[in-house]
Amino acid sequence: MRILEMINVSYVYRNKYQTVEAVKNVNVTIEQGKVYAIIGKSGSGKSTLLSLMAGLTLPTEGDILYNGESIKELDLELYRRDKTSVIYQSFNLFPLMTVLENVIYPMELKGLKFKQAKTIAEKHIKSVGLIDQHYMRFPNMLSGGERQRVAIARALATGSKVLLADEPTGNLDEANGELVVKLLIDLAHQDNLAIIIVTHDLGVAKQADLVLQMKDGKLTQLENLNE
Ligand SMILES: Nc1ncnc2c1ncn2[C@@H]1O[C@H](COP(=O)(O)OP(=O)(O)OP(=O)(O)O)[C@@H](O)[C@H]1O
Ligand SMILES: [Mg+2]
Repeated sequence: MRILEMINVSYVYRNKYQTVEAVKNVNVTIEQGKVYAIIGKSGSGKSTLLSLMAGLTLPTEGDILYNGESIKELDLELYRRDKTSVIYQSFNLFPLMTVLENVIYPMELKGLKFKQAKTIAEKHIKSVGLIDQHYMRFPNMLSGGERQRVAIARALATGSKVLLADEPTGNLDEANGELVVKLLIDLAHQDNLAIIIVTHDLGVAKQADLVLQMKDGKLTQLENLNE
C-alpha cells in the first residue's frame, strides 16, 4: 500500500550568496512494508530528500502526498510528530533522560498518560532487543548499537508508519550496523512500516527491498547494485 508520494519535487536552498538546487524534480512512491535504501555521493541531496519526506522542509516545487493527501493540506506540526520519525547517525537521544524516559517522552508530548506510555515504551524497548537492565540507564551508559536501538524504539513509540533513517549505521561497527539494519528490515516487514535508509554502505543497501540512487539532486531506482 502506498503511503508517501513525491510528485515533481524540487528543493532549492536560497540565501544572500547562492542558490543550490539540492533536489531536482523527484518522483517516487513509498509503500508500507518495504525498506528503501538511498545511496549517493556526499552532497547529492540525500539528507535534503529525507527532510522533505519528514515535512521538516517544504518543497520549493512539486507536492508530497501522505495517504493520498497533500501534506500542505495537513497540520504540518502533527504530520512531523505523528506520521514520520527520523533516526540519525548520532542517535540524538536526550542525554539527561533514561532509556525508558527517552521512549516515553514523545508519547507524553502527544498527551498520553504516563502509565499508558510506559507500557507502550516497554513493549517497544523489548521489541528492539533491549532488556530490563537497560531501562534505567542513561544514553552514555549504553553502547552505540544499544543507543541506536533506543532511538528506533522511540521512533516506533510515536506510532509513525514512515521511518526515515539518515546513515543509521554510520557510527556503528560492521557487526552492530548489520544488527540494526536487520532490525529495521524485520520491523518494516512485521509491522508494515515504510523504512527509508540513507546509507553509503552498499552492504546495507543490498539488504533493502529497493535501492534508489541520488545523483546531483536527481533520484533513480536501481535494478541492481552493480550498475
Ligand atoms: N542549509 C543549506 N544551505 C545551502 N546549501 C545547502 C544547505 N544544506 C545543504 N546544502 C547543499 O545542498 C546539497 C545537498 O546536500 P545534502 O545535505 O542533502 O547532501 P547529502 O547527500 O545528504 O550529503 P552527505 O552524504 O554528505 O550527507 C549540497 O550541495 C549541500 O552543500
Ligand atoms: Mg546527508
